[in-house]
Formats: sequence, C-alpha cells, structure tokens
Amino acid sequence: MIPFSLQVVFFRVLMFVLKISTLFLPIFGKPQIVSGPGSSLKLCEMIAANGVKKLLIVTDAMLVKLGLLEAMQKRLSELGVQWSVYDGVQPDPTIAQIETGLEMLRSEGSQAILAVGGGSSIDAAKVIAARATNNKPIAKMAGLFRVWRRILPLYAVPTTAGTGSEITIAAVVSDPAQHRKFAIMDPRLLPTAAALDGSLMKGLPPPITAATGMDALTHAVEAYISRNAMADTDREALDATRLIVQNLPKVMASGADEEARQNMSLASYKAGVAFTKAGVGYVHAIAHNFGARYHVPHGLANAIIMPYVLDFSKPACAQRLADLAKAGGLAKGGETPEQLADAFIAWIREKNQQFGIPTKVEKLKREDIPAIATAALKEAHYTYAVPRYMDQPDCERFIAQMLA
Ligand SMILES: [Fe+2]
Repeated sequence: MIPFSLQVVFFRVLMFVLKISTLFLPIFGKPQIVSGPGSSLKLCEMIAANGVKKLLIVTDAMLVKLGLLEAMQKRLSELGVQWSVYDGVQPDPTIAQIETGLEMLRSEGSQAILAVGGGSSIDAAKVIAARATNNKPIAKMAGLFRVWRRILPLYAVPTTAGTGSEITIAAVVSDPAQHRKFAIMDPRLLPTAAALDGSLMKGLPPPITAATGMDALTHAVEAYISRNAMADTDREALDATRLIVQNLPKVMASGADEEARQNMSLASYKAGVAFTKAGVGYVHAIAHNFGARYHVPHGLANAIIMPYVLDFSKPACAQRLADLAKAGGLAKGGETPEQLADAFIAWIREKNQQFGIPTKVEKLKREDIPAIATAALKEAHYTYAVPRYMDQPDCERFIAQMLA
C-alpha cells in the first residue's frame, strides 16, 4: 500500500499537468455573451442572423407552463426562425431524456439548439448537440476530451443564477441503471452564444434561488482556494463572490429585484469562468454523490457541505478565505487572516440558516458512507486541485458529520 503522503504528491503532479492543459482552452474560443434585461431577445436575433431556419428549444415543462418562453418564441417567429420545443428535461437529466431530445431534433430537421432553463436543460442540450454530430454512445463521452467532432450550434439562456453551465465545458448526465452521475468535459461543449437575462429570473421560487445562488458561490470559492487558481480565475472568483454576498440576500428578500437578479446572473457566469479553469473541489465531489444516491438537488447539497469543507480546508488556505471575506465586504478592519476566514465561513452558515438550508443530509445513511467517500475521493483527487487532502478514513469521518 502506497503511503497517503506519496499519493498526494502524485495527485499534485497530476493536477499540475491539468493546469498546464487548461492554458490551451482559449484556442476553442469563448461563447459570445449578451447581457442585461431583455438580452434573451437579442440572442434570438443573433440566432436568426447566423442563418438558422429551424431551431430546437430544449427546456423543461415547468418553464413552458410559466410562459417564460413566449417572448423568445414570438421574436423567433417574427424573424422567420421555425422552432419546436423539447420540454422533457428533468432535474439530473438522464441518457434516455437526452436520446429522446435527439430523436426530436432529427425528426424536426433542426439546425441548432436553444437551451432555456437551469443547469439540467443546458447540460442536456449540450449533450444532444454533441450526439447530433458524434456517432458514439453518451456514456462513451464521459471524462475529458471525448467529444471528437464540433457540436451542433448551441445557444443558451440560463433561467437560474447558479450552475454557470452557459460558460463551462462540462455537462453532467445521470445513468439511473448504474446509480451514477458522470461528467462529460470537453471545450467543444461550449455554447456559441448565451444571454444573461436577469429579468427571466424574477419569478424563481426562494428555495431554488437560495440553492442555485449557493452553487454559484461554491464555484467561486472552490475555484479561488484551488491550487490551480490563476490570476484571471482569481479576478473572476473574487468578483463573483462580491456580487453574490451583496445580491443573494437581496434576491431572497425580494425576488422581483431586477438589478439584483441581473447581478446574480453575472456572478454565476463569472464563477463559471473561474471554475472552468481552476476546477472545484471536495464540496462538488461529495455533492455529486449525494445527488446520484439520494437525489439531493445539486445546489442544496453544495450549500450544506460547503461550510464543513471550508472548516477542513482552512489550515491550508486561511489567507485565500480571508481574501474572499474582504471581497464580500465582511472585513471590519484589524482582523487576522484566520479571523477573516472564520467570518467568511460564518457568513455562509448564517445565510444557510436564514434561507432554510439544513445543516445535515436527511437521507444520508451510515452504511452508505464508505462507498460515498470512495467515489468522492476518486472524483476529487483525479480532477480537482484541492488545497488540503483527506484520505478514506478522514473522508468517512468527515461525511459522518452530516448524518441527521
Ligand atoms: Fe456546481
């Protein structure tokens, strides 16, 4: 058995290689971004200007019912773009839901996809667009750089301020038959263009606003404390943190606050830019497993786990956490980095409590902990440059803290 300290050296070298490889990301280009209230209609104009005649809108049934698509559909029709709607995406989209969307895309002869919704709809649309041009099963695209051909043109309108999927190279897919979730990570999954339109988020219910907002904060925080953080990811992560600390309480107090919604939408995008290069960490690794096993919504799981991981990580990144506290305007002056780090973690705990986010995971079972720890450590150690490492027994004890 190789001592854990030696394994950590191997993980650090591996993550350094990953950091170097992210320097090549810019050659794949970045989505064009339009921002501000009403920008989703500007995106429709862009789709028409790009020569799209037949478009598949990928979304969920609830957004259709709420009428959130109507203005965009009207504008597309006025511009001569024929559209059809696939609204079969559900939270944690499955391989089957994606394949059904692909069948519809083919039967309608759609030339491009417009994803409207939260991370699930955008992720499903990314994989439909990839499947349309890559003749390989979805499960075979799992992992890094497994999408070989350029995907169908994809446009995205996020309706939650959380996942940042509109700017990330990843799509998370559920495989219920195998009780697992897997990520497809490839720069080819980046949308052609996206609209950050906070006006579409005004009716988002408070529990979803809180969970998705905490997901965005987790992206910013895990990217900032990552050992693969760079000057540009730091800038975006600090900016996202500032916007979230200032605006998440505002949108929770008043969902119709359009300016605060727009700021959250921008924060989610910036946090997405940061973690696309710097990666995330243990919060996400454990959250993915709570999601796969117990269907705990992603943002909610992150919100619960984040303070525990930050307490554990603090000895290795107190100064970085202190920077985040300062960015959020939580410094009063004269505090040590440790005190500022504690103030930042305390702010998250306080907001979680105000937003009705629990401190424990109700469905977590003690007998599942070893398997969850094994899967989470495998994901984290081979994908994320975490500031402080934990081994299997540490991780099992760590997860046990969240037993209800
Ligand atoms: Fe996330």
